Amino acid sequence: MGSRDPKSFRSARWFVPDDMRTLSHRARIQQLGFGPKDFDGKPVIAILNTWSDLNPCHGHFKARVDDVKRGILQAGGFPVELPAMALGEVFMKPSTMLYRNLLAMQAEEQLRANPVDGVVLMGGCDKTVPGLLMAAFSMNIPAIFVPAGPMLSGNWRGERLGSGSDIWKFWAELRAGKADKAMQEGIESGIARSPGTCMTMGTASTMAAIAETLGMTLPGAASIPAVDAAHVRMAAAAGRRAVDLVWEDLKPSDILNTASFDNAIKVALAMGGSTNAVIHLVALAGRVGIRLAPERFDTFSAEIPFIVNVRPSGKYLMEDFHFAGGVGAVLKTLSDRLDLTTKTVSGVPLGDAIAPFQVYLPDVIRPLENPVEPAGALVVLKGNLAPDGAVIKRSAAEPRLLKHRGPAVVFRDYNDMTARIDDPALEVDENSVLVLQNAGPNGGPGMPEWGQLPIPMKLLEKGVRDMVRISDARMSGTSYGTCILHVAPESFVGGPIGLLRDGDIIELDVAARRLDVVLSAEEMAARRGTWKKPQQKYDRGYGWMYSQHVSQANLGCDFDFLTGNAPIPEPEIH
Ligand code: FES
Repeated sequence: MGSRDPKSFRSARWFVPDDMRTLSHRARIQQLGFGPKDFDGKPVIAILNTWSDLNPCHGHFKARVDDVKRGILQAGGFPVELPAMALGEVFMKPSTMLYRNLLAMQAEEQLRANPVDGVVLMGGCDKTVPGLLMAAFSMNIPAIFVPAGPMLSGNWRGERLGSGSDIWKFWAELRAGKADKAMQEGIESGIARSPGTCMTMGTASTMAAIAETLGMTLPGAASIPAVDAAHVRMAAAAGRRAVDLVWEDLKPSDILNTASFDNAIKVALAMGGSTNAVIHLVALAGRVGIRLAPERFDTFSAEIPFIVNVRPSGKYLMEDFHFAGGVGAVLKTLSDRLDLTTKTVSGVPLGDAIAPFQVYLPDVIRPLENPVEPAGALVVLKGNLAPDGAVIKRSAAEPRLLKHRGPAVVFRDYNDMTARIDDPALEVDENSVLVLQNAGPNGGPGMPEWGQLPIPMKLLEKGVRDMVRISDARMSGTSYGTCILHVAPESFVGGPIGLLRDGDIIELDVAARRLDVVLSAEEMAARRGTWKKPQQKYDRGYGWMYSQHVSQANLGCDFDFLTGNAPIPEPEIH
């Protein structure tokens, strides 16, 4: 425990001065049923809880928050639960990505406006991880992250099912007439068996691993299954540690540096992580004043093999990964390629935090000399079609398509795509390149996960299961296929992808990191001259503010006024 004077706590400004306002604050804490002995001189620990009835991934948080509180009380802190926007990935439309920045703003301002000294962040479902971490990084008070943990493995008649991945596969088979309704009902009741996040290597699993690698969780926390008793123990331990973090005054700015983010990129590559990690890491780094270019992923792609054999790019599920050793074992495996001097919320360097970990199931977490694939899973592309970059998850694509040349079949937006994709008259074959426009940060808006365009019915019936697909959208981390995503600049703001027409020849060369359209600069300029900006969807409200301030994918889709680490004044206490 550190030796701070409790009068230096933030909360002391609300509770210590001998004035009328302080009297009122102290009276209202007593209104909650707590006497002065319960809170005087104690660190006040906020618990930002992203529970809601419409976020099934956080279903256990309603009870788990009591375990966090227990830990805080055991360590002599004063816990206060503050609700935060739940961002349930499945139900929120058009996309939780539209609301990641709103959660980040809400959570940051909750912390700033209230008498709190430290915070426990309870999140897990996709955008809640970056949203809460962005808030904590910007607020820069002692913070620790409690990942929701993956749900139990799915099962249908003895067959293990993975979140998202196996639904996409089943749906393709159903559309091709190779599955039936009975199977559909079995999958519906068997694929999500408990609270917890998607148990494949989707965005939630990837971002939890990133949080642990950045040093923001207790060691080993990222992969503990949501309903495991170990998750209860981890939650209480995080509560205890949060109190000590305040006494030690250990803040995110003391923990994070460029090396922490490089470590996180390497782990995302080794794990076959979600493409969404590229956007979120850029945004997270931006909150601590680090300009992280997506190309940084490519810097390490050659030296970091893909070693975590978990779906959608591998074979196993997150429970297997946890018992194989979890993120700590991955970090241990990569240790000579990481900076192990980076700090963690445990108060020890990363190297010490991972010392107890080892690999127990070497087919799940492979040794470097026997990887699933010899190079990292995520690749950043550039070219005249994506001057500011695009992303592909190489490990989730059919290898034969990684170098491809074919004619574009262009859909001007999502509705156009759904209206025509299965039309027997659509001029498309297996060599075509499906292009979806106006699905980016502004065009979606909110960059929905539409990037895994469906294979046209007539090709499904011929047995085609993968094609090259290009969009300015994102893709679920549980998806698969040769999907080029996050094309920047997006079509809605005049990016070259918005100039494409049916029949344009697209050239993809993943090894060369290129994505081009075979068009002269003169032709591109001529098309740009006649291009018309689509109608903006929102004229008022949050959607309007979002469209005014969101950045492009290569800049992390943060709001221009939220990025950076310029100080914001503490509130006056009057
Ligand atoms: Fe919540 Fe996948 S839907 S993590």
